[in-house]
Amino acid sequence: MKVVREFSRFAHEYNKYNVIQKRVAKKLCALLEEKSYGKILDLGAGDGAIYDNLSKQKIVFSDFVALDFSQEMLDIHKNNKSIEKVCLDFNERNFSSVFKANEFDLIISSSALQWSVNLSSVLQELSSLSNKFLFSFFTANTFKTLHGIININSPILKKEEILTSLDRFFDYELEVVEYKIDFTSVHDMLRYIKKSGVSGGVKQLGYKEMKTLMLEYPLTYLEFEVIFIKVIQKK
Ligand SMILES: C[S@@+](CC[C@H](N)C(=O)[O-])C[C@H]1O[C@@H](n2cnc3c(N)ncnc32)[C@H](O)[C@@H]1O
Repeated sequence: MKVVREFSRFAHEYNKYNVIQKRVAKKLCALLEEKSYGKILDLGAGDGAIYDNLSKQKIVFSDFVALDFSQEMLDIHKNNKSIEKVCLDFNERNFSSVFKANEFDLIISSSALQWSVNLSSVLQELSSLSNKFLFSFFTANTFKTLHGIININSPILKKEEILTSLDRFFDYELEVVEYKIDFTSVHDMLRYIKKSGVSGGVKQLGYKEMKTLMLEYPLTYLEFEVIFIKVIQKK
């Protein structure tokens, strides 16, 4: 529950601090091959980056379900008569039971599923709801150098863990992309991490860790690693 509080606490400022997530959502939507869909489920919809990209790409659909466990994030998601907002935690067992089997023409999720407590179980539930899936995940290599210096483990899933879970349920195409974002100071970098929604769950840094970072962080940028998954078929 710590993660949801962080997303909610900064929901009003989220739009200023989500540069990479926006790029990721745009790239993920560019993988969509069709111009028209039936009902779409967006898992971890946040402030609506997927919905916005679909609109920009002139992709039409009959219905759009924006699912997120942060009501504050859903509150800043666009409203429209084709949008249904569902406040739900995808880590809850049987979360998918609120939907019907194969209810969705497409399930898409950008920058959210790396927070799965049990990714295999989330994917298993999702696999009963659709035949088309597009996912992007931040991996544990995000902030790799920073985590190494202050000796903490990333709170998000490793690339290998994500792929092992995906392998159980899907055949898919994969692309791994590294992003960098430049900062003029370590202080600015830390503020970005805190408010971006990528870092949720990372403990508050103490004075000693801050000092270590200020003195030893060797880069002028932050590192992000994202994997893009286009499911070809279910297993
Ligand atoms: C980094 S944001 C990405 C938002 C949006 N998909 C985008 O591409 O900009 C991650 C979103 O996932 C939501 N989220 C994280 N864990 C979740 C969970 N267990 N259940 C539902 N939503 C979750 C957060 O509230 C947040 O809105």
